[in-house]
Amino acid sequence: MNISRRKFLHYAASSGVSMALASCAPRSMGNMNRMMESSPTTVVEAASTPSIDANITPDVVIQLSATMREQQLLSGAKTQMAQYVGTLVQGTSDNLQSFNDSYIGPTIRVQRGQTIRIEFKNLLNQPSTIHWHGQHLPTEMDGHPLHAVAPEQTFIYQFKVQNRAGTYWYHPHPHKAAGAQLYVGLIGLFIVEEPTELTYGLPNGAYDLPLIIQDRTFDSNNQLTYVNNMHQIMTGYFGRKILVNGAIRQTKFVEARAYRLRLVNGSNARTYKLAWQDGTPLTVIASDGGLLAAPIQRDFVLLGAAERIEIWVDFSEFSGAMQDLVALPFTGGNTETVAIQTFEIGKSHSRSLDLPVEFSPLGFDPLPTNLKPDRSFDFYVNHMTPTIDGLDFELNSVRAKETVKLGTTEIWEFTNHINGARGFPHPVHVHGLQFQVLERTGTSPEFAAGYVDDGWKDTVLLMPNERVKVRLKFEDYTGLFLYHCHNMEHEDGGMMRNYKVVA
Ligand code: C2O
Ligand code: CU
Ligand code: CU
Repeated sequence: MNISRRKFLHYAASSGVSMALASCAPRSMGNMNRMMESSPTTVVEAASTPSIDANITPDVVIQLSATMREQQLLSGAKTQMAQYVGTLVQGTSDNLQSFNDSYIGPTIRVQRGQTIRIEFKNLLNQPSTIHWHGQHLPTEMDGHPLHAVAPEQTFIYQFKVQNRAGTYWYHPHPHKAAGAQLYVGLIGLFIVEEPTELTYGLPNGAYDLPLIIQDRTFDSNNQLTYVNNMHQIMTGYFGRKILVNGAIRQTKFVEARAYRLRLVNGSNARTYKLAWQDGTPLTVIASDGGLLAAPIQRDFVLLGAAERIEIWVDFSEFSGAMQDLVALPFTGGNTETVAIQTFEIGKSHSRSLDLPVEFSPLGFDPLPTNLKPDRSFDFYVNHMTPTIDGLDFELNSVRAKETVKLGTTEIWEFTNHINGARGFPHPVHVHGLQFQVLERTGTSPEFAAGYVDDGWKDTVLLMPNERVKVRLKFEDYTGLFLYHCHNMEHEDGGMMRNYKVVA
């Protein structure tokens, strides 16, 4: 069975190939090398860029590289990390904005309908790809591990942005090393805008704040530590410190007025039970695929890895001068309340905005009368190995069960099957499309009030014993797409499969 996984562990424990910065790096670089070293099975052919329609002139052209960088995250030694670095070649300054001083890659902000071209240069010492999480695009532009970009090579991603306005993101997706590459810092936001969204008068500019939540563990020399045993693959890797926007626990000064917060769970494995520290309900206006039909309220929101929610908050309505966004404890998660982000609220009383009563309809088809699933996929850890239906990932094959017809709509059922005593959360993600969550069953009363299954989704969190039915439509593109658990250690460990859309 899983020879590749054993090899991964074997290699993860040996010292690594030197990386770009290795020569000038301290001793702890060895740790970094191990972290990002990929197993021999990751060596796949470097793909050449598929032919791009020469008749289409892109609206936005960006050069983006993945490279090694040092970051001053803690006092003392700098931390060896990787980072996406971008240059705008064509477009407006809005299209590419650097993200503070952190390791977070530049934010790509585009208009729905624009054609974008991203010239990706891989300056790492191992294969990588960029996956445009949540986007509807052709398979060869999706960053599938089959389309790995070898070190020093350039790959051109070009696609027309068809998604609804919303908060999407990009991250690496190479074979068995997606988790390590995300963990060392490769992540960026991909924000889609469209005119209808502007008509709601939502907070914008400085009042539209992304909050990318991640967790990391540092060794005594301030270097990142990552998976070094089988147990950490089984559970996923949990960092001991929480970082927001690439920084550790900073206070954010805000005005006493309305803000739009775009929350992205960019963690490898950690699920957050998010809430306002004073118990004020969260006002959720958007999920993975953009605005909901109308704002909803939740006392807390469970946000699995890769999921996004957008929150409307009027800081003038809090009584104190400080307000924390916190992660509450839950069974299988953090055991104490952890402050995620502290807001210090200013006194200015600029006239605040009103929360819109509703947004545009989501355009879902009418609910089916019969929820019988067309296919059912079982996510479970089998003898410490993360699987789908008990199977490992296979780079370029699919089962009959994983073959769907272009232009059809299906109901898929995902189950988080507890095999033995211990269950794990599985944030299940499907590439290439946005889906509708139709039904969730088996939910523990502890979590029932905390799901945002509304709106268009690309990732749906399944806590132990849960069963979720989603409706997906396979449109426009044939080819191989991935579906997987977005706990990155589960994903790299084999809880990932292809599905194939055929004409
Ligand atoms: Cu966020 Cu397979 O991806
Ligand atoms: Cu994805
Ligand atoms: Cu999982």
